[in-house]
Amino acid sequence: MTYDSQLFKLIKNEQIADGIFDWTVENDTIPPLAKCGQFANIKVPGRTLRRPISICDATENTLRFVFQVKGEGTRVMSEMKTGDEVEILAPLGNGFKLEENKRYCFVGGGIGVPPLLYSAKNTENPMVITGFRNKDLVILQDDFKSIGAELYLATDDGSAGIHGFVTDVLSEHLDEIDEVCACGPIPMLKVVAAVCRGKVKCQVSLEERMGCGIGACLVCACKTKTENGEAMTQVCRRGPVYDSEEVFYDA
Ligand SMILES: Cc1cc2nc3c(=O)[nH]c(=O)nc-3n(C[C@H](O)[C@H](O)[C@H](O)COP(=O)(O)OP(=O)(O)OC[C@H]3O[C@@H](n4cnc5c(N)ncnc54)[C@H](O)[C@@H]3O)c2cc1C
Ligand code: FES
Repeated sequence: MTYDSQLFKLIKNEQIADGIFDWTVENDTIPPLAKCGQFANIKVPGRTLRRPISICDATENTLRFVFQVKGEGTRVMSEMKTGDEVEILAPLGNGFKLEENKRYCFVGGGIGVPPLLYSAKNTENPMVITGFRNKDLVILQDDFKSIGAELYLATDDGSAGIHGFVTDVLSEHLDEIDEVCACGPIPMLKVVAAVCRGKVKCQVSLEERMGCGIGACLVCACKTKTENGEAMTQVCRRGPVYDSEEVFYDA
């Protein structure tokens, strides 16, 4: 079994920043299958389409999700109560490819930061660069500190950490790392890819609109560069993680 849809019990639902919620769900069989950078497709009560949310962390019997309320589905999720049952299809997609004896730098922007925690936790001596619009949206700093990461915080308006962008911080530390894994808005990923080009390898995680999450509906099709030239690939199945040079950032 690579993935399955099963019932989970919501055991924690806590607001951790403005409009951002931290969920822990419990189930005995799916969490041990989760790999770094994969995602889940969550059934929202009363909605047909599931909502794709990255796996922020995993233990033997829990998955953690950190999500921002964007529309109706995530609003309903934010109002669910501990003890509620949730149907979740997981783990999905191809996540970050992490090798031993490499120093990784994880670069996250906004709600692109949560998918990096489980990955950083599973590498040695990780560097983590997190960026947010302002201090009210800063999340997961204590979690990254608790795993011993060399952690940097940047905000667009300077209200917390360094005044500037994650890419400014990354440029200064490029010679200390072997590879970059990034998740965040496309304009940020485009600059991360440019900073890394010709210097260090870079993987980017894309958050394309999705339907089924398993390669059956084509909602997530996206133009990418492949060995055989340009091709439409399904982000849910081929991705969500791509080599940064495979992605068209302006498409
Ligand atoms: C692989 C992946 C991982 C993600 N991980 C996270 C995460 O860890 N935390 C987080 O806050 N958000 C994450 N997102 C974005 C999240 O899926 C959307 O914000 C969410 O689906 C919005 O649903 P909604 O009902 O609140 O919004 P609405 O706009 O009402 O959604 C309507 C429909 O569009 C889809 N949709 C809308 N925006 C997106 C989007 N950006 N990506 C995919 N589908 C979308 C919804 O699933 C739904 O079917 C991820 C998206 C993908 C593809
Ligand atoms: S979401 Fe249906 S094919 Fe990718």
